[in-house]
Amino acid sequence: MAKNYGVAVLLAAALCLVGAVYCHDQERLVVEGPVFCDTCRVDFMTPLSYDLKDAKVKLECRNRTTNVVTLTMETKTDESGWYKIEVDSDHEEELCEVSLVESGDPKCGELLKGMVHKARISLTNRNGITQAARFAGSLSYATKESHANCAKVLLEMGVLPPDFYN
Ligand SMILES: *[C@@H]1O[C@H](CO)[C@@H](O)[C@H](O)[C@H]1NC(C)=O
Repeated sequence: MAKNYGVAVLLAAALCLVGAVYCHDQERLVVEGPVFCDTCRVDFMTPLSYDLKDAKVKLECRNRTTNVVTLTMETKTDESGWYKIEVDSDHEEELCEVSLVESGDPKCGELLKGMVHKARISLTNRNGITQAARFAGSLSYATKESHANCAKVLLEMGVLPPDFYN
């Protein structure tokens, strides 16, 4: 499988050289994922969460051995809180992660202490299967205060809010 893939890449490269195919598209990967507003300050999505548009996110890739940053790209989420970043496939094998830069929402811009605000992604093309999209885990900003209905909603979800008994 890996060997066949290598041949396919060589063939694609050769076709690129002679201009037989348009090469940019096929060598690009799309890193994408959601950013939401955590109105219950629990670090996961609830029915009271909403999509965060205009949130600025950054994709950073590093060489696994040297830790040198090889790629930095920023973008913003769309109306539905979704971002997409196009990446050259030569960042496969590197360590890449998406992190939050700035919330576009004045009511929802808090970073919960002690929580992870990065989503690690793998650009590695395992099995030689060409799949353009790479989905990153969801990222979130929180509101300053919890929404008044959080306790009720979290109980309905089967989880208690961390400060329920305080
Ligand atoms: C990481 O850096 C080393 C040293 O510069 C280089 O030999 C290696 O090819 C790099 N790895 C990747 C995946 O680019």
